[in-house]
Amino acid sequence: MKRVIIDTDGGTDDAMALLLALRSPELRVEAITTVCGNVALEQATSNVLRTLRLLGEGPHPPVAAGAEAPLLRPLRTARHVHGRDGFGNATLRRGADGEPLYPPLRRPLLKQRGDELILEIVRANPGEISLITLGPLTNLARAAERDDGGMRRAKEIIIMGGAFETYGNVTLTAEFNMRVDPEAARRVLELGIPATFVPLDATNRVVLTPAMLEPHLGVAAGSEAAGGGGGALAAFVREITGVVMAYEAERRGQPGCTMHDPLAVAVACVPEMARAVETRVLVETKGEYTAGQTIADLRPRRASQAAAAAPQARVCVEVDAARFFAMFEERVLKG
Ligand code: RIB
Ligand code: CA
Repeated sequence: MKRVIIDTDGGTDDAMALLLALRSPELRVEAITTVCGNVALEQATSNVLRTLRLLGEGPHPPVAAGAEAPLLRPLRTARHVHGRDGFGNATLRRGADGEPLYPPLRRPLLKQRGDELILEIVRANPGEISLITLGPLTNLARAAERDDGGMRRAKEIIIMGGAFETYGNVTLTAEFNMRVDPEAARRVLELGIPATFVPLDATNRVVLTPAMLEPHLGVAAGSEAAGGGGGALAAFVREITGVVMAYEAERRGQPGCTMHDPLAVAVACVPEMARAVETRVLVETKGEYTAGQTIADLRPRRASQAAAAAPQARVCVEVDAARFFAMFEERVLKG
C-alpha cells in the first residue's frame, strides 16, 4: 500500500485521476491539496469537493486549499481547454430534478493551507509519503521554502508534467504545469527527492475517446447512484469532458481527452506500466520563449557520460496504453 498526498489543480483530467486514486487498492490517499492552475484556486477546490461527493458523503481524505498564485508569475489558467469552471461547465448545469448536476461535499475544508498540510504529514511520516502532483508545483515549493529539510523526508514525487522529446502544450517548448510556475518546479527539483516525471511524451499516448465511454453510459448524467455504479462515474466523465473533447476535435481533428493526470496516478499504482529513463532534469526559468521547458538527456547512458551530472529523476518515455485503459475502465468507467 503506497501512502500518497495528491496535489491537484482541479481540472477535467484531475477529477478522473482522483477517482482512479480513490478506487485503487495500491494507494492510500492521506490528503488532497489544491493549487491554482487549470482554474483559480477556489474553483479547483470546489471541483475536488464535487468529485468526492460523487463517491458518497464520506469518509473522504482531508482537503486543504493551497496557493492562489504561482511563486512569481501571474496565473495563466487553462479554462479554454477545460471549460470556464474547469469541469466542462458541468457545475453550471442542473439535472432533470432541477438540482445542481454535481454539488460539492457539504463538509468544511481544513483550516490549514495546502503546503502546511503537506509538510505536517511528510514530517510526521519520514520516508513514507509519496507526493503525486497533478498541477503546478507551487504548493510543494512553498512547503520547501518553509522547511526544506522536512520536505526531504518525502519518499518520492510523481509529477505529471514536462515535455522532453515532444512539443509543449502551452508553448512550443513547455507543458502547462511546468509553464505556470517554472520557479516552483526548479525549487522542488533542487530538494533532491526521488522524482518520476510522467510527461507529455507518455501522456499524449493515452487519449480517451467518446467511443471508449459509450459502452459504460448506463444511466443519465447526475445519477443518484452516489458511490458509483450504474454508469454514474462514466456519465460524470462524459459531462466534464465535453469541452476538452471539442477542443481536441478542433486541434487534432477528432474528439478526445488526453489522460495526463490519470496516467500519473496509474504509474503511482503500477510503476512498470511505463518505461522510465534515469536522468537529470533541468527546468528553464529565464527563457523569453522557453520558460517552463524541461530539459534532460534521455539518450542511453554511456560510460563517457558517467561524469555527467548525477541523475535526480526518472522520466517516463513509454507507456503500456492498453494496460492503462484496462485499469481506468475497470476502476472508474465501470464504477
Ligand atoms: O499539461 C497537462 C497538465 O496541465 C494536466 O495536469 C492538466 O490537468 C493541467 O493541469
Ligand atoms: Ca492537472
